[in-house]
Order: sequence, then C-alpha cells, then structure tokens
Amino acid sequence: MLEVQLDAREDDWELSRGQRVRAMTYNGTVPGPTIEGRVGDTLVVNFTNHLREPTTIHWHGLRVPAAMDGSEAVQTAVPPGGRFRYQFQLTDAGTFWYHPHTDEPVQMERGLYGAIVVRGNSEPTVDHEQTLVLDDVRLDTTGQIAPPGGLLEQHSGREGNTRLVNGRSDLTLRMRAGELQRWHVINAASARYFRLALPGHSFVVLGTDGGFLPQSYRTAEVLLTPGDRVDLLVEATGAPSSTVALQTLPYDRGHGAGTTEIEDVLRVQYTAEPPLPRRTLPQIVNPIARIDTQNAVHRTITLDEVDDVAHQRMVFRINGEAHPNVTPVIARIGETQVWEIVNASGMDHPFHLHGFFFQVLDRNGEPESRVSWEDTVNIPGNARVRIAFRPEGRPGMWMFHCHILEHVANGMMGHLQVIAADAVEPPQRSPAPASPVQAAPHQHTHVHG
Ligand code: C2O
Ligand code: CU
Repeated sequence: MLEVQLDAREDDWELSRGQRVRAMTYNGTVPGPTIEGRVGDTLVVNFTNHLREPTTIHWHGLRVPAAMDGSEAVQTAVPPGGRFRYQFQLTDAGTFWYHPHTDEPVQMERGLYGAIVVRGNSEPTVDHEQTLVLDDVRLDTTGQIAPPGGLLEQHSGREGNTRLVNGRSDLTLRMRAGELQRWHVINAASARYFRLALPGHSFVVLGTDGGFLPQSYRTAEVLLTPGDRVDLLVEATGAPSSTVALQTLPYDRGHGAGTTEIEDVLRVQYTAEPPLPRRTLPQIVNPIARIDTQNAVHRTITLDEVDDVAHQRMVFRINGEAHPNVTPVIARIGETQVWEIVNASGMDHPFHLHGFFFQVLDRNGEPESRVSWEDTVNIPGNARVRIAFRPEGRPGMWMFHCHILEHVANGMMGHLQVIAADAVEPPQRSPAPASPVQAAPHQHTHVHG
C-alpha cells in the first residue's frame, strides 16, 4: 500500500529566485509532490482541504472506480477544513497527474496540480529521469496571479505571460554529454499548447497518455495540448559545457488564439564532464490490439460555441447543451463505443474522457497509423476525430470535456453514464431546463463558424 498525505492550502510559490506569488498548493509546493507507484499498488491519499473554498482531487488518466474520480458528478466537494480519503489501485504504467475538478480556472491556475508516475515491469534503462510539468500563469501588474479575465480570456482560454516548468520560470536541467534521459512530460496549463523542440536534438517517443506505444518513434517535435502527457527519451548529443533551450514552437489554435513566436521553456546545461559512451536505445515492445468496432454503438459528439450577447459571455456546448444542464450519454459495460467528435467551431478543443482510455480511429477520415491509448486528443477547429473505447467495468457517472479550463467553466463538459451490460437503460431526463443562452430574453445568439 502506498499512503500519501495531501493538504491543499494557500502558500507562497516561488516562480523564480525572489519572485513569489500567493498560490494554492498541495503540501506547500507547486507542483504538489510527485506520486510514484507501481502497477498493482493500492494508493491511499488522505486529503485535507485547508483552503477557504471547496475542492476535490481528480486523478487524470487513472482508471479509478467512479466514486474516486473527484468530479462533481460523483463527489460533493470537500468543504474548507474537510477531509476525504481516496483509495484505489494503480492499474496502468504511465504518466498521469492530479488536479481539482472544482473552479478549475482559478484553482489549477493558482498551482493545484501534481504528477503521478506509475511503473510497470519493463521500464527502460536510462541514465536520468525527469518529470517535467509544463504550465503558464498570467501575472498582473502587482506581480500576482491575475483573477479570471474578461470575454477574450473566456473565449480563447488563458495563455499566461510567464511560462513554467515544475513551477519555475527559470528551470535549468543538467545533462551530461552522451547520456540518455527519459522525460515524463505533462501539460498542466489552462489553455496553452506546447509544441516542444530541442534544437540539435530529437526525441524518441516511448509512450503517450495511456502508457507505452507498441513501438517507439523518433521525432523533431512533440505537441502537448492541455491535459496531455508524453514519455520521451532524449539523447544528450550536445557538447560538454554547451547550453540549449527547450522551446515551444508557434501553434495556431484558431480564432486568433495560440502563439506566433518561438518561446523558451527551460534551459538545458551540459556539464563539463567528458561524454559518456553512447547507449543503445532501449527497445519498448508493448503490443496494443486495435479495438474491434464491428458491433460498436456509434455516436456523434458535437462541440460548438455560441455568443451569449445578452450576458456578455461565451457558451461552449456539447451536443447543444452546456454543463451543468446536460443529458448523460449512456454506455453499457463491454459495449464498444465509437464516437465521432465533431468540432463545429473554428478553434481547437482538447477533448478529454475520464475513466477509460480510447484509441483514435481516424482524423477527418484519415485512418490513424499508430495505435495508442489516449485520454486526451486534440480536435482541431472544424475537424472531426473518431475514437473508440470499451468500458470494461466500473459503472458510474464519468465526465468528458474540453481541457481548456475556461471552456469547461463555460459549459463544454458532458456526462457519460456507464451501466451494467444487462441494466435497464435509465430514463433520459427531459431536456435540461433551458440553458442560460436559450433562456436569455432578447437574446442575440449566433453560432460561430
Ligand atoms: Cu484533467 Cu476532467 O480533467
Ligand atoms: Cu475548448
């Protein structure tokens, strides 16, 4: 058994030497403590909320029982001063993370997140491992984290003015020439897409959200949407004492959102030591069978946005509904689900499913060449992506949503109700009480794109 104490509390967060902001932390640090376990371990987290507001913890990517998932569908938020004991088994090797599922644009922006690394039986041998949690924050003129902003930020999501790795804007990674490093990378940012490149180096991708790929592959750059993880090998091919910056390349998220410049994320400093003899790359072999979709249930999940002019806000919807007024999608245990996720807006949305890994079948009709297990996939503006998954058990209420925190907060979240194979289908609620958009008197609603 692996037992961890996590306390959410306000504390100072040092972004760089001498630069502190008021933050929300787990155990006083940002990120919170990295939880490291092995497949088969039972993880117990004794959680205490010392914040002045309610919160929960969600275990992003872990296949936990529904009651442990930390979303508002399954748990009343832990009140200030309250406690909750999370307990579940670690079933999959990979890189995961934890964060609240309440008031995400504030609580996560202010520092509530941490990494989880679960190890299996065939971990590659490397010289060094790093866990890199990417983030950004928006500092206001007083140097503090800005409260949620206006319409533009609600629409595009917050891309901060300060980029962070492991809670620092000035992180330096040491590397010895010739060595082999393994990086567990997590994107914990509100809305920023990180498109990582390390000039003069390449990455070998070992795994993604749900663990190792069937075969690793080499690439010059890797894109992480909010919520995404990637497991990389980095060969230290630089010269002793040289430095190189890990960069994020421009990425256009549509509707004028995203980045247009190359920005530095952290500094890699080679030590002066003589180069190590180069290692042969460890080979990962992790066969993944493609999900058989022959008898699948097919659904369309449409993402769109409407401009609620009367209330001066954007509403982001799934199948025409805005959270919390949503009709659950029903799925039976053992039944294969094929979801065509249609982005009817001109802006990218990183789609995340709780509780179950899926495989990407195709993007705009182009079959996906690699098989992998994912819990987060980018749906580019005006694109469609088909995914397949099969609930293997764990009945209950799950969430699926865009991982841009301002979009979740403005409605882009749905419920998935997993029921027993032979259960009577629960009666569908009559369509939700009209969402704020429809209810608005003198509305001037229009759909973009
Ligand atoms: Cu990190 Cu509901 O997700
Ligand atoms: Cu979105």
